[in-house]
Amino acid sequence: MANPTRGVGWAGRRAGTGSIIDVEAFLVTGGNRLEGTVEVPGAKNSVLKLMAAALLAPGPSVITHVPDILDVRIMAELVRRLGAEVDYRPAQGELTIDVPAELGHKADYDLVRKMRASIAVLGPLIARAGVADVALPGGDAIGSRGLDMHIEGLERMGATFESSHGFLIAKAPGGLHGAQIWLDFPSVGATENLVMAAVLAKGTTVIDNVAREPEIVDLCEMLNQMGARIEGLGSSTLTVDGVEGLHPVRHATVSDRIVAGTWAAMAAITAGDITIDYAHTGHLEIALDKLVSAGVSIEQTANGFRVRMDRRPKAVDIVTLPYPGFPTDLQPQFIALNAVAEGVSMVTENLFEARFRFVNELTRLGANVRTDGHHAFIKGRKRLSGAPVEATDVRAGVGLVMAGLVAEGTTTVLDVHHIDRGYARFTDLLTGLGGKIERIDPDVAASA
Ligand code: UD1
Repeated sequence: MANPTRGVGWAGRRAGTGSIIDVEAFLVTGGNRLEGTVEVPGAKNSVLKLMAAALLAPGPSVITHVPDILDVRIMAELVRRLGAEVDYRPAQGELTIDVPAELGHKADYDLVRKMRASIAVLGPLIARAGVADVALPGGDAIGSRGLDMHIEGLERMGATFESSHGFLIAKAPGGLHGAQIWLDFPSVGATENLVMAAVLAKGTTVIDNVAREPEIVDLCEMLNQMGARIEGLGSSTLTVDGVEGLHPVRHATVSDRIVAGTWAAMAAITAGDITIDYAHTGHLEIALDKLVSAGVSIEQTANGFRVRMDRRPKAVDIVTLPYPGFPTDLQPQFIALNAVAEGVSMVTENLFEARFRFVNELTRLGANVRTDGHHAFIKGRKRLSGAPVEATDVRAGVGLVMAGLVAEGTTTVLDVHHIDRGYARFTDLLTGLGGKIERIDPDVAASA
């Protein structure tokens, strides 16, 4: 079913609500095998940071391979409020951000609360404006997600911090200087903020134990194209020689490995056959290896890879870790797979403690999952049965849709705005592969 509210504009998708969030659900009917080809867009977790990075250079930067997702619209509004002009062309997957010589410095709570990645403007704002007022974030309901490493690293570069009325206020009136920084843990967000601050700092910054995700390499490549001097891309130490100024560029967003991994897991759970274009197997090595252990065959294609499955999956153990370990953002999808697999499995979540909230929803479909601390024990069941469930975050949401695709009867997934945050044209693509999914208004459906 076409969504009647599409095209209304991001700030008022349901007439009268004035809300950025859709109050919509997906109705999923189980039983169909997924077959066909999908193209993966640019990565959500990269493009949001590339948009923040554009703020570092006055003038128009162009970002391509931009996914048509809610989070891009939220970030576009945030950079607009900082004074940039944004021209977003979702049909072309292109975004132009024209940055003024003088930037604003306030990231408001109404936007930061909806998307934790808003914190990525902290580094660019201190570097360029010498001041940043960023509301303390909310975002996915997946754990506490502190900011201590962002703050300590920026303090080493000469910034001072105070918190007041829900805002984090950072100041570096004389500019930032180079520093030696050791991260306690390879945090994605802290690595990105520190690199974006260091590119305009005076002198050399060495950041050790950084995160090595492909999205961070993508960000550093864009910064280097803009004139930054970053070495060690993809390794656990980044060395940044500060420069006087950066210039705008045109940059293509790296492909979304989590979306690619999700389609691969969907092929596995539905005994399907999906060719995934614009995707890199090299960014998904452990996840694809787990799928092979579950019974799929994977074949490299000219532009991506093909995943085929012809049996009930075998259970696989998973341990989430920073890249190149198994990604936490594929953990719910693999729990869904294990829920219908042959055998028992253990999934260990090491990054976000609240990510197992999704398990309570999955058990409503009949899954046999028990959690203890950061471990989940799963006994595969031959059949799940459809029921209403709630998406608690973007990846939990797709995990529930996956389970719904193989459950008997229909599954209503509520709060699908979480899925819209990260998956472009989700229902269209799924329908194109033969899945049965409709976007519905749950209130209307309940009263019908
Ligand atoms: C990013 C991704 C998210 C992914 C995660 C891990 C975006 C928009 N989001 O989130 O999809 O699941 O990486 O791959 O790119 N932490 C601290 N102090 C800090 C920073 C982090 O304690 O200063 C903790 C967090 O609470 C969390 C863990 O470190 O438990 C991982 O956080 P981090 O790697 O920073 O993830 P995000 O950047 O938030």
